Amino acid sequence: MKHVAYEYARRGARLVLVARREDRLQVVADKARQIGSPGVIVVAADVSKVEDCKQFVEEAVNHFGQLDHLVNNAGVVLIDFFEKVTRFSDFASIMASKAALISFFETLRTEFGPDIGITIVTPGLIESEMSKGEILSQYAWVPMEATEVCAKAIVDSACSGDMYLTEPSWVKVWVWIKILCPEVFEWGAHSISKYSENVAGKVILITGASSGIGEHVAYEYARRRACLALIARREDRLQEVANRARQLGSPEVIVVPADVSKVEDCKRFVDETVNHFGQLDHLVNNAGVTRIELFEDSTQFSDYASIMDINFWGSIYSTHNAVPHLRKRKGKIVVLASTVAWLAMPRLSFYNASKAALISFFETLRVELGSDIGITIVTPGLIKSEMSEATKLSKAKATWILAKSTEGCAKAIVASACRGDMYLTEPSWMKVMFWMKIMCPEVLEWGLHWTFVKRRETSKDS
Ligand SMILES: NC(=O)c1ccc[n+]([C@@H]2O[C@H](COP(=O)([O-])OP(=O)(O)OC[C@H]3O[C@@H](n4cnc5c(N)ncnc54)[C@H](OP(=O)(O)O)[C@@H]3O)[C@@H](O)[C@H]2O)c1
Repeated sequence: MKHVAYEYARRGARLVLVARREDRLQVVADKARQIGSPGVIVVAADVSKVEDCKQFVEEAVNHFGQLDHLVNNAGVVLIDFFEKVTRFSDFASIMASKAALISFFETLRTEFGPDIGITIVTPGLIESEMSKGEILSQYAWVPMEATEVCAKAIVDSACSGDMYLTEPSWVKVWVWIKILCPEVFEWGAHSISKYSENVAGKVILITGASSGIGEHVAYEYARRRACLALIARREDRLQEVANRARQLGSPEVIVVPADVSKVEDCKRFVDETVNHFGQLDHLVNNAGVTRIELFEDSTQFSDYASIMDINFWGSIYSTHNAVPHLRKRKGKIVVLASTVAWLAMPRLSFYNASKAALISFFETLRVELGSDIGITIVTPGLIKSEMSEATKLSKAKATWILAKSTEGCAKAIVASACRGDMYLTEPSWMKVMFWMKIMCPEVLEWGLHWTFVKRRETSKDS
């Protein structure tokens, strides 16, 4: 937190800067002098050593003849789930950590009375070396405060003699939630820090892996070093995907050309996978097709039968064969449904119905299986792929809907499956539509009809 030093320097204070890296301290000292500090000394020291602490306090007093503020700022962090800790000695340097500090200095404040003021600062997530890397990747969605802003607030607060400072101040809302409804707070904290499964060496079967979302889900699992069984009808495309997956890090990939609408094919590819790898850990039910047409314009119902056969029955056949093997491994099932299952997008009535059936079926299965097998139901919005390619889109007059990249969607799907989420909507803003449907279904349906049916008829007429 060099910015605390700069903030004191701006106010003309003299400084003693302490840390282990002397070269970095010298850079901060030079800048502090330029900003306005009339005197700066640096002391290389390790605050975890009692003799170092004695020495830098003595150096400060010997040099300046007095000490007015002590800012106890040095700290380190190590991130891991308690269950994953192997050596407690790795964590020894962190203690006594933050809760203990608060308790200690609150006690000290009652001992000192008004002789020495103590300001206890509880920052939220602040941009710094500490918040980069692991924290940043896990909690990138949490708004971060700039170090300069936090440093200014700290020095202001110390100079005003505040007892406490929480920075940014909105973090206090969490304190109130914790006090008023601790169950909600702990449930929320638990959900955001969920354990993410390590799939390296595990066996993942993906249907519809020859293109689009399935192809990129395969690459994402490959990056995590999982073994893959890739299923689709086009063998040449599957071989290309398999080669790339190997390059990306998958230790072993097999391809099984098959048609998921055939019950005997689904048995065959599950058996081949388990015979080859000896286990099955995740099943990704992704294969799907669509057809775009107004219900009134459809003449042959048989044209639509394949939508149900592939999208619904294909997932059911695959799942039925996979469940005994998944159960042995406490495995997972990922189901590619769609937001259109509840967003009644015109011209897709049979497709929408096939996805709604999938959701209902897998929600029921989740209740039947309990905690033995995890089920993640994915409801993507519009994702760039062969299925959503321009010609089909223009037929549906949906080109204006923001299409998310297949890579981004695949990454979110695999992360969600590894976390064991029950649901994933991608992109997440599509959830707004779900809430609209619940709160004001008339408005949503009128909007869909006007945009995708009426407007098209009007533009045809004119
Ligand atoms: N793209 C979107 O906007 C979007 C939105 C919501 C949901 N989804 C869902 O996401 C999944 C993937 O879609 P996508 O966009 O990636 O489409 P895509 O690029 O057309 O991929 C569909 C995949 O399914 C395979 N497939 C189709 N029929 C099959 C069959 N009978 N047997 C085996 N494999 C079959 C295809 O391979 P072969 O042709 O080689 O067999 C292909 O690999 C689908 O379930 C889709 O409904 C997509």
